[in-house]
Amino acid sequence: MTTPGGTLMITGGAGFIGQNLVHRLVRSMPGTPILVVDAMTYAANPASLEPLVDSGRIRFVAANIVDGEAMRALIAGESVTHIAHLAAESHVDRSISGPDAFFETNIAGTYSLLKAARAAWEGASAERRFLHVSSDEVFGDLEEGDPPFDEDTPYRPSSPYSASKAASDHLARAFHRTYGLPVIVTNCSNNYGPYQHPEKLIPLMVLNALRGLELPVYGDGRNIRDWLYVEDHCAGLEAALVRGAVGETYCIGGGSERRNIDVVGTICDAIDRRLAEEAGRRAEWPDCPAARGGSCRELIRFVRDRPGHDHRYAINGSKIARTLGIAPQETFETGIQRTVDWYVDNADWWRHALNADFSDWVAGHYGAGAHGAANR
Ligand code: NAD
Ligand code: TYD
Repeated sequence: MTTPGGTLMITGGAGFIGQNLVHRLVRSMPGTPILVVDAMTYAANPASLEPLVDSGRIRFVAANIVDGEAMRALIAGESVTHIAHLAAESHVDRSISGPDAFFETNIAGTYSLLKAARAAWEGASAERRFLHVSSDEVFGDLEEGDPPFDEDTPYRPSSPYSASKAASDHLARAFHRTYGLPVIVTNCSNNYGPYQHPEKLIPLMVLNALRGLELPVYGDGRNIRDWLYVEDHCAGLEAALVRGAVGETYCIGGGSERRNIDVVGTICDAIDRRLAEEAGRRAEWPDCPAARGGSCRELIRFVRDRPGHDHRYAINGSKIARTLGIAPQETFETGIQRTVDWYVDNADWWRHALNADFSDWVAGHYGAGAHGAANR
């Protein structure tokens, strides 16, 4: 166990997984100073962190990881001994329409951060750790029947997003091998849960269903993802950070492969159930079909497929289970119910993200008039 002797720096801490990780580590590492560094792009939402900043439990710095001098000054000046690097451009669809930011942040930014850590930690005797958080998308995609990805699967990325993450993984491992930087890499499957930006599949479907808007399923809806509840992922990240072996890679999966159309159906059923039980929520979401005794499934629409759409992702999580005792605790059905309940109960958190930038994205990506009210 190597609980940080100095400050733990979390890059991208105002993003989806970052917020969940910060909340977990604030509880599990009560004596450890936590520094959140985030450039506050459209994907960030600081609301859940504000009470932690106000109480002095965490420190927040708005900074860009591409700025190597700022990163070096923070790592040295704040006595950072552990880094959990999550900052990234992360939305595949945005990487298709605008890849530049992905190469800048994910490749140049990761390079700057690695260089900054190396410079700041030069000659240090106390333990240091650099956890590089990556994706299973670096491995490309699978056909049905193929064995799941594991730590030895060759890289074969398909999208600008996954290509940029693949490059960042190579850089992180090269800094370990060449300079001895104490790097650990994790590659995880699709996360879901509280605090996820509403452009991503699961929150998009929940929010659209509540508002009676169409549920756009790409292609024939048969693409498969391995869904990992974000708290299970964060448990794996904490274990890798404090107990993982330097130089090692850990794959973290949810053990929950589902076709997209089935994911959307499960979400619809969860909302139907929740609104059937609560008159107050029916009054709050009058445009949801479930508010008038119907089903959210009425809103499902098949739309144009994503270019280069990866067919299937799946992770073999046996290494992290065997070596660090980490396995998913949440089933897909319980995780989805928790997630739907969270979005139903926390509209104040997500309304902030339904801004002009989001409307522009929806209009540009799905076409003008997209996500129209399906039943009005
Ligand atoms: P996210 O997009 O929700 O959050 C990313 C955060 O990084 C945002 O707060 C953003 O403001 C910040 N950021 C972006 N560019 C920055 C820059 N140049 N400098 C500083 N901060 C910057 O992403 P997420 O879903 O929380 O993912 C976190 C990490 O996990 C990413 O590295 C992503 O590639 C990886 N990952 C995510 C998933 C998933 O399902 N969400 C799956 C596999 C891997
Ligand atoms: P997404 O949440 O963007 O994650 P990723 O591309 O990293 O897997 O998408 C998850 C799956 O859902 C993916 O197969 C694309 C699909 N999808 C839709 O069918 N409709 C949508 O509107 C979105 C955003 C995604």
